[in-house]
Amino acid sequence: MNRLSIIGAGPGSPDLLTIRAANRLKNAQVLIWTDSLVSPQIADLTTKDCERIATSSLTLEEILPLMINRFKQGKRIVRLHDGDPCLFGALSEQISGLADAGIEVEVVPGLSAYQATAASLRAELTIPGLVQTIVLSRAGGRTGMPKNESLEKLAALQASLCLYLSARHVAEVEKTLLNYYPKDTPVAIGFRVSWEDEFLEVVPLNKMASTTKEKGLIRTTLYIISPAIASHKNRSKLYAPSHSHMFRKK
Ligand SMILES: C[S@@+](CC[C@H](N)C(=O)[O-])C[C@H]1O[C@@H](n2cnc3c(N)ncnc32)[C@H](O)[C@@H]1O
Repeated sequence: MNRLSIIGAGPGSPDLLTIRAANRLKNAQVLIWTDSLVSPQIADLTTKDCERIATSSLTLEEILPLMINRFKQGKRIVRLHDGDPCLFGALSEQISGLADAGIEVEVVPGLSAYQATAASLRAELTIPGLVQTIVLSRAGGRTGMPKNESLEKLAALQASLCLYLSARHVAEVEKTLLNYYPKDTPVAIGFRVSWEDEFLEVVPLNKMASTTKEKGLIRTTLYIISPAIASHKNRSKLYAPSHSHMFRKK
């Protein structure tokens, strides 16, 4: 039975796609892709006969009929989103619209920007005794934030905080975060991580806004605010000689 595939493109570099995602792209007859955020190199993995539809200038009311129409023609359709589709991908409204039209979907995961950024930094974001929680969120902007998820509340955790879609609001973000994290807390600023023009720098929290401005970053920028990014020698229990478990007896 034909199913429409919603796939995560990962952060940008084609070799960070999952094998399943690459296979779906290779076999696609119609590609509907988020051209404002997905690297064209990934769209290019489709065949030359594949119809390509870019969605950056379309509304949901325009995108859904395109998908439904092509699907009813029996075409293999790939809806391609950047990163992982479960994060800020407008996934649920599309699945719900497709379900109303009786169309079943599969979702193929992708690497999210925070994972690619942590990998580029060679950083672990969960250091025992220091930080054990990762928060994935954003500055409110025009979308706004639910009351219980204000930046103040998230910052109060002093966890590894990954902020998407926040570059335009970075001055306010920095000001708020300085009320909760020390001013020298490392902040990774990643622009188009894993693309050929990647910019990635770690700066102290009180330089987060000025660096963003200096580099002219507005789009495709991720921040990771985390004490874990600094170097440290905290040990995990997992590999401690004093800690036994079912695979390693004392
Ligand atoms: C609409 S959201 C989608 C997030 C995506 N679903 C994910 O899991 O990475 C777009 C935001 O993701 C972040 N982003 C996506 N790809 C990125 C990359 N390669 N480098 C840095 N930030 C990226 C930026 O914050 C960008 O504004």
